[in-house]
Amino acid sequence: MTYAERDLIATIDRLVPQGASERSTLEALQYLDHYHAGGSQAVERLLDTMVLSPSDTVLDVGSGLGGPARQVAAASGCQVTGVDITEAYVQAATELTDRCGLSDRVRFVHGDIADLMPDQSFDAGFTMHVQMNIEAKREWYAEIARRLAPGARFAVWEVCRTSGTELSWPMPWSMDGSDSHLATSDALRDAILGAGFEPVEWVDETAWAISWFDTAFTGHPRPGPNLAMLIEDGFTRMLNFAGALADGALGVRRGAFGRSAG
Ligand SMILES: C[S@@+](CC[C@H](N)C(=O)[O-])C[C@H]1O[C@@H](n2cnc3c(N)ncnc32)[C@H](O)[C@@H]1O
Repeated sequence: MTYAERDLIATIDRLVPQGASERSTLEALQYLDHYHAGGSQAVERLLDTMVLSPSDTVLDVGSGLGGPARQVAAASGCQVTGVDITEAYVQAATELTDRCGLSDRVRFVHGDIADLMPDQSFDAGFTMHVQMNIEAKREWYAEIARRLAPGARFAVWEVCRTSGTELSWPMPWSMDGSDSHLATSDALRDAILGAGFEPVEWVDETAWAISWFDTAFTGHPRPGPNLAMLIEDGFTRMLNFAGALADGALGVRRGAFGRSAG
């Protein structure tokens, strides 16, 4: 089963001892709490396309350990709500947010997007490396669209299939492939557009992600705790992912969309 880790805080305490200031805790966590290729630098790339102002409310779908939500809140001053189906991740995300002094601006809800109040209208939304677990992609993106205000910016950072090459498991989003639903870049973009979004940008970030992994693996300039130490079989999952990107079997796409009016 994927995302089966429990008692994450005990492990995090061993990797990032408590007692540091809120700002240095945020910095110490940055390689541990981003569950996607590109880490905090990928979030910076999404921030550039989200055009946020401090009064905005932002929805993060599949928020994981909360690194992206905290980074968006810290960088923009916005209120961010993360939603995730893995209860242990929501608990860890909530605790880490408290340690970073961001609880007044970032909150996490355990559940599926379909469970989130449909009448809440966020000013912007984003999702990173989640749709690989979603089979009915168009319906899922439509649930997200329903929770965004007309004209709201929606940013995605996603993995797609680029060839029919057999993948080596485990991958970061699936231990054995049984809960993996990869789509091609065109099919993924079509699913988003068909769910009530207008196109703004659809960028191939594969080369950038490959070079990010190369730097991450050499450990320079950032030795220290990282996500591979926290999740089950983490190093194999990261190596398989980086290998499939380098072999051309998978690609990374950054997208920006606008919620259609009406
Ligand atoms: C690879 S992690 C990415 C986490 C986070 N977006 C990040 O980039 O750090 C995928 C996350 O999606 C969550 N997830 C998977 N299916 C989901 C669904 N249907 N609704 C909400 N979250 C889901 C998992 O629990 C996990 O936290």
